Amino acid sequence: MQIQQLKNWFDQNRSQIFADYFTFLRFPSISADPARRGDCTACAEWLTSWLKKSGFSSELVATPGLPLVYSEDLSAGLQTKTLLIYGHYDVQPVDPLDLWKSAPFEPTEREGSIFARGAADDKGQIFYALVALRAWKELGKKFPCNVKLCIEGVEESSSEGLIKALTQAKTQTMGSLKKKLAADSLLVVDFDQFDRNIPAVSLGARGIAALEVRLEGSKMDMHSGLCGGIAYNPNRALVQLLSKLWDEEGKVAVPQFYEGILPVSEEEKKLYSYRYDKKYYEEQFGIHAFGGEKGVSLQEANWFRPTLELNGIGGGYVGAGVKTVIPSVAEARITCRLVPGQNPEKISKAVALFLQHHIPKGMKLQVIEHKGMPAFRGSIHSTLAQAIAKSATEVTGNSCRYMLTGGSIPIVPAFVETLGVDVVGMGYGLLEDQIHAPNEHFDRVRFEQGFLTVGRALSLLL
Ligand code: BES
Ligand code: MN
Ligand code: MN
Repeated sequence: MQIQQLKNWFDQNRSQIFADYFTFLRFPSISADPARRGDCTACAEWLTSWLKKSGFSSELVATPGLPLVYSEDLSAGLQTKTLLIYGHYDVQPVDPLDLWKSAPFEPTEREGSIFARGAADDKGQIFYALVALRAWKELGKKFPCNVKLCIEGVEESSSEGLIKALTQAKTQTMGSLKKKLAADSLLVVDFDQFDRNIPAVSLGARGIAALEVRLEGSKMDMHSGLCGGIAYNPNRALVQLLSKLWDEEGKVAVPQFYEGILPVSEEEKKLYSYRYDKKYYEEQFGIHAFGGEKGVSLQEANWFRPTLELNGIGGGYVGAGVKTVIPSVAEARITCRLVPGQNPEKISKAVALFLQHHIPKGMKLQVIEHKGMPAFRGSIHSTLAQAIAKSATEVTGNSCRYMLTGGSIPIVPAFVETLGVDVVGMGYGLLEDQIHAPNEHFDRVRFEQGFLTVGRALSLLL
């Protein structure tokens, strides 16, 4: 398939393509919100029927969480390889709602950008890939390999049930899911490009370990005068405890946190292109204070080093005015981003143990360790990586770079482990898309570039 042919098809179908994309964006498919389960399922059903209309077989597969959308075209036959394309239809919550310039589930276009929750992550990105497959069908072309699609609905909620089911349970449905998804290579369409008009293939992501921390000092809230000086305030205990998590050098102080990390060779470091400096982050996000370890570059800190972040702290009163209270409970949420060699369960345990060792006497500590997932890496030499790189170079006119990401895509390591696939990440996302934040957006130009890249790459696969 030539790019020009794809371009012509896109031009002819442009208004329908964007109308369908907008419909997809209107589903408030927030996987974290139990009240949105119906919306998530409706979104998955819509996607299934869209795929059927596009000439694919398609079904909803029940999982321990929300259903996943599965499609296949195995007409290339048993002799050829199988490509699995992955994305997610669920999105992040939308709060704080008042910072949105237009309603998050009413896609609104401003200067060629489409603003909506999921516009980039991941509805926009997975949808251009699906449109590319549709173009192949409508142009009467036969895929050079078998194609399977897995679009899941709990990525933004850590894919927890799905991973467990896929990796351990021998239940019939999950056993058959593993068989269903069997493939040689995996294309994850949920990544960034290097910079506007400069494409990238992503060869890995960090893993994650998540913990909930709860400190209880008393059985009820108390008057901070009447019990002040008597009770140990759990807010005080919590900030003392949390402040011990890093040393003076910015290193995580938890014993064994860095144990087993695989060193990154100079050769590997040279494979990747590095982007953005402090100035970029200052301008884009208004970052004034830089974290990370002393002596470690921004890029290294984000790709090659693990982190421990406090995602939330709460306890007592932070409303308007003054409330004199000693709260009974203080809480924190922690996530660690992991690099190759780190085991998520071990990291969670080590952090939990560290907290246990450092709480003030008498304070009750409860730690919930969520199921984590390790980092993953793909190979630059895989046929798929090379096909995407070549296609993206042709589409943009700029040579494709190789990158990693500091983010995580939870199901991917489980796919690599259980299916034995070669993994490649692609995407046209940018750091300025405001994914997970108010006013998330994606633009028409990048949607089309993504479409062309996937469409063209398919013919470079053999
Ligand atoms: N697509 C993102 C991760 C990402 C963003 C990769 C940009 C590459 C470039 C994904 O949807 C995501 O947000 N993942 C979560 C997973 C978490 C909820 C377990 C993350 O990284 O925080
Ligand atoms: Mn995503
Ligand atoms: Mn996301």
